[in-house]
Amino acid sequence: MYKIVKRDQIADNIFEYWINAPHVTKNGCAGQFVVIRIDEHGERIPLTISGIRGDDVRIVFMAVGKTTQQLAALQEGESIQDIAGPLGTPSEVKKWGRCAVIGGGVGIACLPILARELREAGNEVTGIIGARNEGLLLLEDELRNACDELVICTDDGSKGHHGFPADILKEKVAAKELDAVWIIGPAIMMKITSMATLNTGIKTFVSLNPIMVDGTGMCGSCRVTIGGETKFACVDGPEFDAHQVDWDELMNRQRTYTGQEKESLEHYHE
Ligand code: FAD
Ligand code: FES
Repeated sequence: MYKIVKRDQIADNIFEYWINAPHVTKNGCAGQFVVIRIDEHGERIPLTISGIRGDDVRIVFMAVGKTTQQLAALQEGESIQDIAGPLGTPSEVKKWGRCAVIGGGVGIACLPILARELREAGNEVTGIIGARNEGLLLLEDELRNACDELVICTDDGSKGHHGFPADILKEKVAAKELDAVWIIGPAIMMKITSMATLNTGIKTFVSLNPIMVDGTGMCGSCRVTIGGETKFACVDGPEFDAHQVDWDELMNRQRTYTGQEKESLEHYHE
């Protein structure tokens, strides 16, 4: 059993848990994820490693459906049954030069660990974060410390730039201020934002979020197409070259179980 050593709600419907899991923290890096199971009857869900402190790993999640709502109902001091990881390949951290790490919604939570690793590797890092409104912005102070510069965007203009991270990225691309970019958020946000660096030669990574079950390359549920080739996001990714991703296929496959997910949530609330 793995104990929740700290639990906070950090934005509307978004929770930050620190879980004691030394086997994850020993080798976990930016870009990797864990697969958790709340109890022996639970579904397995993937969540990104958002931070590491000693023997504790941080996960930040939005309570969107049955399992994430069940997880959000747990309290500090309670435990979950399993946490498998670290899974997936680490982010390609090396000396790139000037980097931007861009987060949309709960994807913002993946940025501080990445920004810190990139800076430790000698890069200059700009953080660009976006959310629908101020209440959905996350980890702002932590990111301000982790990055050389932080730009905030909200769709409704309640804080920072009134608009999208893509607007800021376009300005930086036009000013030739970047060598590598990471974009993490909902698939549609990653698809649209990554258009800003198309044909510019700027290396652009996205972290794909297809349905995952085992997280070890065996079930095939996380199949994605990258540059015309089939890849399994759980073992070959989840980070890939944004300009090679078949976005329509990814978004179609994400909707495969919409009916069952709705039914499962209804049963949970009965
Ligand atoms: P459901 O009602 O079952 O599903 C809601 C939506 O979540 C679905 O439409 C589907 O798009 C997605 N989803 C459902 N089941 C899965 C699954 N087994 N695998 C992947 N997606 C699923 N969310 C966060 O809030 N924070 C994170 O750090 C985070 N990291 C992720 C890292 C990876 C590598 C992947 C693939 C996904 C990540 N997600 C993250 C998404 C998270 O796994 C889903 O929100 C969660 O599985 C939803 O489960 P549910 O039962 O609460 O909701
Ligand atoms: Fe099963 Fe990737 S989750 S192959």
